[in-house]
Amino acid sequence: MYTVGIDLGTSAVKLLLVDGEGRVVNQVTKEYPLSFPRPGWSEQAPMDWWRGTVEGVRELVPKGEEDRVKAIGVGGQMHGLVALDDRDNVLRPAILWNDGRTAKETDYLNETVGRETLSQYTANIAFAGFTAPKILWMKANEPEKFRKIAKIMLPKDYLVYKMTGVHATDYSDASGMLLLDVQHKRWSQEMLEICGITEAQLPKLHESWECVGTLKPEVAEKFGLPASVKVCAGAGDNAAAAVGTGTVGAGGCNISLGTSGTVFISSDRFGVDPHNALHAFAHADGGWHLMGCMLSAASCNKWWMDEISNDTDYPGEQAKISPDKLGRNHVYFLPYLMGERSPINDTNARGTFTGLTMDTTHADMTQAVLEGVAFAIRDSFEVARSLEIDIPRSNICGGGAKSPLWRKILANVLGIPLDMVTTEQGPGYGGAILAMVADGKFPTVRAACDALVTVASTTEPDPELTALYNERYQQFKEIYPAMKSLFPKLM
Ligand code: XUL
Repeated sequence: MYTVGIDLGTSAVKLLLVDGEGRVVNQVTKEYPLSFPRPGWSEQAPMDWWRGTVEGVRELVPKGEEDRVKAIGVGGQMHGLVALDDRDNVLRPAILWNDGRTAKETDYLNETVGRETLSQYTANIAFAGFTAPKILWMKANEPEKFRKIAKIMLPKDYLVYKMTGVHATDYSDASGMLLLDVQHKRWSQEMLEICGITEAQLPKLHESWECVGTLKPEVAEKFGLPASVKVCAGAGDNAAAAVGTGTVGAGGCNISLGTSGTVFISSDRFGVDPHNALHAFAHADGGWHLMGCMLSAASCNKWWMDEISNDTDYPGEQAKISPDKLGRNHVYFLPYLMGERSPINDTNARGTFTGLTMDTTHADMTQAVLEGVAFAIRDSFEVARSLEIDIPRSNICGGGAKSPLWRKILANVLGIPLDMVTTEQGPGYGGAILAMVADGKFPTVRAACDALVTVASTTEPDPELTALYNERYQQFKEIYPAMKSLFPKLM
């Protein structure tokens, strides 16, 4: 049998064909544009996701083997607002997870409704990228479109809806809407009232591995697959990536170095960070997790290389960083190119280089970018440590994790070993695993992970380098507070 795992990312949709033994037999990636119509705004056309998916599935499955495909699972970029009218037309471009336009609505939720109340209702406070503030933004700024909303959904739910005609979501992704009572896994009626929406506009809630439907006949024809193919509810991309790297059950950790950077701590018990710096969300294995999310991680390096350095040779550029420079760089970079979520929750925060001198080289600045992202990931780690959560090691996945140098920097900044699994495709592989469970190949997500996920390599920290990075991190920590009050004036 085959399952298809789909990672609906921010730069591309990545599709995997996985066989019954968990081997990846084929992969296809289809890119699409991301638009920043105003500073801090971030949007995408849901139709682009769908077009990429249709083209991708057609290329993914070898001719003659279509009947072997049994189920599809999607992991998708979280929090994005997709709004459809009563004829299923998309009312406006999707407002994405890294969009910062909702500062006013976020303040209203956190200050007027109140952090404590929000946390009681949803286990979380408002962050600009979450879905509820976006709904309030639409209500205030596009009232006519707001009135026409028949269905609200998250990005991967749009794909599931297009495939099956079923308006469904899963608990992990729904957690990031700030509309879900995460602990009790039901919509928060109080939050729906605050946002001026009804439950009828929201998708039906499922566990990630539950089958929500099968392919609509016209979609089956477009895909070239049987209409009996099952589609499971899927998961937010971070929960899917955690499944894909075997980060399930109690006490696992996964770091994703993708467009965003996340620290995902899995748990079999519901728990909240009392300061709400880490998100308290449901996991795709039936449990829960705490998560810190930085908005620009591998995207900082992409920006630095593609936009500023005009250089596509990432390994070549990183080879110029001499090993004895590690832990000794005087240049620092704040990676807040899209504002920042965890843990500082500041849409006004901006990227900066500091510590430049006449002898600073381009390679020092490249190194500072890689280190700045690692330090910002450590910020979320420190929050977890302050809650006495022990993280002795972590899995790592995402495009940035392919760089051995970046892994080395991160392992030493955090002072823990980082494991890469054999199937490093993160959310796509997690989607394929969820699909296998939906098709009955495994009884639970955890059993599937035990059978399918193995560690391929480990990056160990070096005590001396960890000590050097510890000192550097103390300095990094002082930069944002020193600049914080300046950022809003730079707009
Ligand atoms: C998580 C988050 C990001 C997106 C990226 O809270 O906003 O990781 O899911 O796709």
